[in-house]
Amino acid sequence: MKRRNFLSLGSALAGSALYAGALPGAAAASRDRLRIGMIGTGMRGRVLLRELVRRDDVEVVALCDIEPVMLGKALEIVAQAGKARPATFGEDGDGLAYRRMLDAGRLDGVIIATPWEFHAQMAIDAMQAKVAVGCEVVAGVTLQDHWDVLDVQLKTGTPYMLLENVCYRRDVLAVLRMVRSGLFGELVHMQGGYQHDLRAVKFNSGDPEKPYGGGVEFGPRGWSEARWRTQHSVRRNGELYPSHGIGPCAMYANINRGNRFTRINSFASKAAGLHDYVVQQGGKDHPNASTQFRLGDIVTTTLACDNGETIVLQHDTSLPRPYSLGFRVQGTRGLWMDLNRSVHVEGVSKPHEWDDFKLWLDKYDHPLWRRLGERAAGAGHGGMDFFVIHAFVEALKENAPMPIDIYDAITWSAITPLSEQSIALGFQTLDFPDFTGGRWRTRKPIFAFDDRY
Ligand SMILES: NC(=O)c1ccc[n+]([C@@H]2O[C@H](COP(=O)([O-])OP(=O)(O)OC[C@H]3O[C@@H](n4cnc5c(N)ncnc54)[C@H](O)[C@@H]3O)[C@@H](O)[C@H]2O)c1
Repeated sequence: MKRRNFLSLGSALAGSALYAGALPGAAAASRDRLRIGMIGTGMRGRVLLRELVRRDDVEVVALCDIEPVMLGKALEIVAQAGKARPATFGEDGDGLAYRRMLDAGRLDGVIIATPWEFHAQMAIDAMQAKVAVGCEVVAGVTLQDHWDVLDVQLKTGTPYMLLENVCYRRDVLAVLRMVRSGLFGELVHMQGGYQHDLRAVKFNSGDPEKPYGGGVEFGPRGWSEARWRTQHSVRRNGELYPSHGIGPCAMYANINRGNRFTRINSFASKAAGLHDYVVQQGGKDHPNASTQFRLGDIVTTTLACDNGETIVLQHDTSLPRPYSLGFRVQGTRGLWMDLNRSVHVEGVSKPHEWDDFKLWLDKYDHPLWRRLGERAAGAGHGGMDFFVIHAFVEALKENAPMPIDIYDAITWSAITPLSEQSIALGFQTLDFPDFTGGRWRTRKPIFAFDDRY
């Protein structure tokens, strides 16, 4: 079965008897070691794989990818770590080979690091097979995907965590402590986003050794994310990557745990950056110079919360700019902004002046980073990739609730289809669904209260 057949066959098989006699999956008692599999060993999968193979409490027993080059590079990582060779699936290009892995692998958990369009079905299949899911961002594509993933998680009870690594960034976690200690007073407004020049990710030459830049190909002629992600910029217009920005803000605002999003709208600018890049790099006669991109270069999303806060997200991936997630957390007594690495606290900072964030980090550094910062050194994205894998593994070993759970995943990720809907309706403001079915009123925050995970 080739990748292009994945979707049609995926939906035909969903809910079939294929899953009867499912695996033992996550046991009720806590465990010392986990057997983990991975679907998708591309650029991201391999970053997470490196974190998995350096742990003594994880055995990577199976890897699945439909691209032999990606699979081969992943096997090298396992071998370099001195670990046993995992079983492999998908070399034949069968887009459903992961189901054989779920069946054959006797897995406790699976990491999903494939293109966005496959996350929902793969997570559903894994949960039905009682294999705990650590899913890369996003949870699904359509709004219905999100309801379906939620429904299966609630019915099966199989653990599901969104691997949103930015929630574990050192400054983001320190600010969580600042917020919880009341340093900024009552929370009023937050900002975040995904402001990352992805032009050299969305386009390349198709050379597996040069996944980032060096050409203007995408789709079947591209490699890694250029092969699939760029299509989303062609077909869709919305906040396509919300969780890096909204994850931390949602934790600050206790979304789904005493608070909820109530309303949402998105505005999209024109789409000019990707076309300009193709012409600049490939010339006006390159076939991709005639591609019409729908994704607005800057998509600005506003969310209203039940407790009265507002949150603004910006998706900005098609123009030249240095990376910044653009966080701002503001309350009645002060604020943090990440771009200028600064804090201002009324009555403590000099009036109308910023303090260097470092001065505050010393006091509010999170116990997780204090305890494990050295272990995280060298991990991807400044160490935060260590923490997100650590959290998934530790929570699963303990059979404890996932720190970034199904409601978080669905609520954050559903911003994408809702923002697309808002833009398609002329930037209309929409009601935000309550995925918790009212449980948000009584659920209590659990994320990162101590130094465990
Ligand atoms: N959290 C982060 O910081 C971060 C960073 C980068 C990427 N990501 C996310 O990770 C995911 C993967 O991104 P990437 O950069 O690794 O992309 P990639 O294209 O490099 O890797 C995706 C892999 O999935 C494989 N694949 C596709 N269909 C498959 C199938 N049916 N079965 C098995 N394997 C299949 C591809 O062959 C490829 O190797 C995306 O969701 C992306 O948004 C997250």
